[in-house]
Order: sequence, then C-alpha cells, then structure tokens
Amino acid sequence: MEATRLSGRKILLIVGGGIAAYKSLELVRLIRKAGAQVQAVLTASGAQFVTPMSLAALTGHPVRQDLFLPDDETAMGHIELSRWADLIVVAPATAGLIGKAANGLADDLASTLLIATDKQALWAPAMNVRMWLHPAVQANVDRLKRFEGFHQAALIGPDDGEMACGEFGPGRMAEPAAILAAIDGLLAGAGGRSLAGRKAVVTAGPTFEPIDPVRGLTNRSSGKQGYAIAAALARLGAEVTLVSGPVALGAPTGVARVWVETATEMQAAVHAALPADIAVMSAAVADWRVDGVASGKIKKAPGGPPTLSLIENPDILAGVARAGPQRPALVVGFAAETADLAANARAKLSRKGCDWIVGNDVSDDVFGNDANAVTLFLKNGAEETWPRQSKTAVARALADRIAAHFSEPQ
Ligand code: CTP
Repeated sequence: MEATRLSGRKILLIVGGGIAAYKSLELVRLIRKAGAQVQAVLTASGAQFVTPMSLAALTGHPVRQDLFLPDDETAMGHIELSRWADLIVVAPATAGLIGKAANGLADDLASTLLIATDKQALWAPAMNVRMWLHPAVQANVDRLKRFEGFHQAALIGPDDGEMACGEFGPGRMAEPAAILAAIDGLLAGAGGRSLAGRKAVVTAGPTFEPIDPVRGLTNRSSGKQGYAIAAALARLGAEVTLVSGPVALGAPTGVARVWVETATEMQAAVHAALPADIAVMSAAVADWRVDGVASGKIKKAPGGPPTLSLIENPDILAGVARAGPQRPALVVGFAAETADLAANARAKLSRKGCDWIVGNDVSDDVFGNDANAVTLFLKNGAEETWPRQSKTAVARALADRIAAHFSEPQ
C-alpha cells in the first residue's frame, strides 16, 4: 500500500455498536500510518465496546459523541465535520445505522451526519448473520446503494466466518487492511479531483414527437445512462442541468432537471442552459418529426391509413458543438451502434464537431438494461475501451475522465 494516495486526506470514522468496534481501533492506526487524518464519532452503543479515550488517543483528536454540545456555539458540529471530511467510513456499520441512513432518520450525531453530508460513505457492516440476512436489512442496504449523487454508499463486507455469537456466515466486519484498501480506492476514484465551479448540461431519455394529440413517434431509451451521468457529475461538484425527455426516473439529488418532449424543445432547453463548461448529449433524439401535427385525433378513414410526412429534427449535439462563443469547453456525444462501432463513432465525432464520443455497442440489448460496454473516442485519435460495467459505473468513469481532462494543462 503506497501512502501517497491517502496522505493529507481526511477521514471521518463513525464507530457503531458491535464487538467488531475493537477492529476500528486498528483501522485508525492503519489510516494514520498511510498519512491521512482521522476524526472519530462514537455512537452511544459504540461506546459500550470501545472507549472514547482509546479513540481519542489513536486519532489524536477529541472524539465526538453528542449532537448538541453546550460549548459548541454554532450547534453545527455535524455540518463542520462533514465539510472537513473527504470520505466518511462507517465501521462497524450496524443494522441500526444502516436502517437510519437508508430511511433518512436522524436522531443522534452519527445518523444526523450521515444525512447531512454530501460526502461519500464507505460502510463496513458487522452484525449477526441472521440480522444481516433479514430482508429488512437487505432492503435498507439496497436503498443505500441506490442513492445517486450525494451520499452515495459504497460497501465492504461483511465477510463470512465464525462470529462472536458462535454462528457462522456473512456478518463479520471486513478486516481493517481491506477497509483501508477500499478507502484508498474510493479516494483514488476521481483522482481526488473535483468539478466544483464547473457547469454541465446533460441530455437524457428519448424525445416524443407528436403525430396528433394522442399519438407520437418515440424510441425505447430509458434515460438511465444520462441520468447516471448527471448524478456522477453532480457528485464531483459540478452544477448540472439535466434536460430530459419523458422517462420514469427520479431526478438525481443536486441536479436541476428540465422536462421536455420534442427535439425542438430539447434543443431550446440545452441552449438556455449555456454557457456551460461541459455538455454530455446522451439523449436518443428522434431523427424525424411529423410535418404538420394534426390538431385533432386522426380518425380511421375509408381511404386507408394516413401518410405521414416527416422532416428531420435539428441535431442538438452538432448545434452545441458549433455554438460559437457559447460552445462548452468539452462536448461529449454518444454513438449507439449495432455494427462497425469504431468507424461509425469516428465519423460522428468529426461530422458533429464534438470532442469525445462515447461509443456504445447496442447490438446486445442495451436499452433498459443496467450494463453497458463503451469505448471512448477522443478527437485527438486516442481510444479507451472500458470493461462491460453497470451504467452507474460507466457514468462515474466518464465523470472521473472529465474531471481529469479539466485538471490537465489545457
Ligand atoms: N443527437 C442529437 N440530436 C439529434 C440526433 C442525435 O443531439 N437530432 C446526439 C445524440 O444525443 C448522441 C449523438 O448525437 O449524442 C449520436 O446519436 P445517434 O442517434 O447515434 O446518431 P445520429 O445522428 O442519429 O446518426 P445515425 O442515425 O446515422 O446513427
């Protein structure tokens, strides 16, 4: 383990109640040895297993146990602690702490912090195997993992093994060295880079082009990839406007969503969001719209079905890439292809004038799926192929890549 990635970083450790709390003392030692600072919050039940004195001695900081302290003039200790931290680590994470955070309950310092923070939390669960496997706990863990944007949870463990209560199975807290490696990985994820102060506009979902008041042309885009990208950019601190066609998804935390239906509306909303530093156009814009939308419902007629006359929609991506002084510094498009991915993606890159194209192989039913295989094509000819991974992971990799781009000398 190289000390460099952790050195100078700030970890807020929440110690919950469980026999595994003693391992958190070792974790503090390892984190400090790697060069990071640690402050500890000890829950009331955590204090049944380790003393505030041990944690204070090992962290070199006072240990926080109370939400309200009479000598804390601002009564904002939880906010300050959350601002101070680069990463929050919950170890041991009890069923109680997981349940509170998953349901937005805040009744002590630890649970309030977990809701008040916009920092990522790494959870190291430790509990009796039956508790861990209980559907209520599993549902809460799933909820925690699904929160997008702020307060995105990462989990390590629990490990299988013999437990203090004599039972065997998943429930043991991960070993301190493994938790340290996970901390290192999370801090390295974005290379510690942020997009704070950057503005981004993201398009997502299909467009809906009306034929008459009850019918329309659309496609099967779920919007998942674009929503995940908006969430990932917000998570790195960007101010994100998400221009969304009709989809069944909630707006990610911290993202301003603008609903649109047609390509024309989407184009107007995107231009209204400029100037921006970053544009990621992931929407599946309908290529055509109906010329002369009927004002009333088109009825069946003896002469047979109506003939629809189509006109081409504006290319929103190409328009943004050629927006003159309003052009974002980085314009990213998608190429959804069923064949000849590289050739088609490269052709789109130059035709549309964008900087990067995320080439997306849709030959294998990507629409509505959670996994995605992509290759990033750069204007300078470089190419990066990413392993097949969840749409959330693709989004994070893209956001990290964007943050890295902005930290390179331009
Ligand atoms: N795009 C856009 N406006 C359009 C069509 C596409 O902004 N009217 C954007 C998409 O959001 C995506 C990229 O252009 O980022 C490529 O979309 P795709 O549908 O793959 O390309 P098309 O231009 O439709 O090309 P083709 O039909 O030849 O595949």
